[in-house]
Amino acid sequence: MALVNLLGMLDHARRHGYGVGAFNVPDYETLQAILDVAEELRSPVIIDVAEVHLKYIDLDDVATVVRRAAERAPIPVALHLDHGETFETVIRAVRAGFSSVMFDGSSLPYEENVAQTQEIVKICHACGVTVEAELGRVLGGEGTSERFEADPDQFTDPAQAEDFANRTGVDALAISFGTAHGLYKGTPKLDFGRLNEIARRTQKPLVLHGGTGVTDDDFRKAISLGIAKINFYTQISVAAVERTRAVLQDDPELISYPLLLQRAREGVKEAVGHQMRVFGSAGICDRFPDICAECDACVLPNDSLDTDPPSQTPTASTQQMTRDETTELIKAVTRAVMEGLQQQR
Ligand code: 13P
Repeated sequence: MALVNLLGMLDHARRHGYGVGAFNVPDYETLQAILDVAEELRSPVIIDVAEVHLKYIDLDDVATVVRRAAERAPIPVALHLDHGETFETVIRAVRAGFSSVMFDGSSLPYEENVAQTQEIVKICHACGVTVEAELGRVLGGEGTSERFEADPDQFTDPAQAEDFANRTGVDALAISFGTAHGLYKGTPKLDFGRLNEIARRTQKPLVLHGGTGVTDDDFRKAISLGIAKINFYTQISVAAVERTRAVLQDDPELISYPLLLQRAREGVKEAVGHQMRVFGSAGICDRFPDICAECDACVLPNDSLDTDPPSQTPTASTQQMTRDETTELIKAVTRAVMEGLQQQR
């Protein structure tokens, strides 16, 4: 099937009480392992490409690979920009063919976060691309050996979240309620009352960042209270490194790079598979045939990609423009936004 955006995917997750994992992909081995385990477990999946990882992986190249993989995959796959820091990166991702983006304006003053997110939502929605924003700050840094903890002063304010959701029209909201990116100092203490209140006031699918180190029980409770998307990365990196370290300790003479990578992929698959079971997304494509209503991939013959793609009736969650159409639209909207900004100055 074609890439999906977050709209139908997270709506389905909320209606049926499970969460969808958004797993960061800084390299093609990790990508392959995540797609493999998602297919094996019949789970929807979000491929997250973080702006901080663009020093390891090219935005346009990864988009091409994931789009192609999604066409073959008999499961819903979304391709999402994680922590887009600037307007320019968000637009690059849309042009590259991402089906969803995160604009992280959480370090900006509130009104500036609202204003910039509004512009991005306007452009992205015109292109059929969904938008996640962040309010309150999830601190820390993923993929390092440093340890972090959440700062209650940075937790999301429920009343402000309601105002933000109403004014920006975002499709998903990342909130701060006790998690931090990367490894934790001690055990994270999640503020479930706050999560409940934000879910009640915003009525939006909520996003938990900093999944590594959160207990299985806390994940289940957070999902039952409104978390629909879970960002998860550091433990994947730990699993891959631990596997390769063990292989090299067992066989210090090993010089087969592909074998090493294969072992690393096994570690990634194990870590991601565990999370998909905890989030309740494993087996969803078997339990709910309706999730595949827009997807013909399960019934396509293997060589179907060599022939014309099946005709599909566009729907809100799958409608995608051609790259040329998208480029033209972005240029027009960007011009209008820039003119508006100049007039304000
Ligand atoms: P962890 O690395 O803590 O799992 O967090 C990942 C994340 O939130 C990416 O946005």
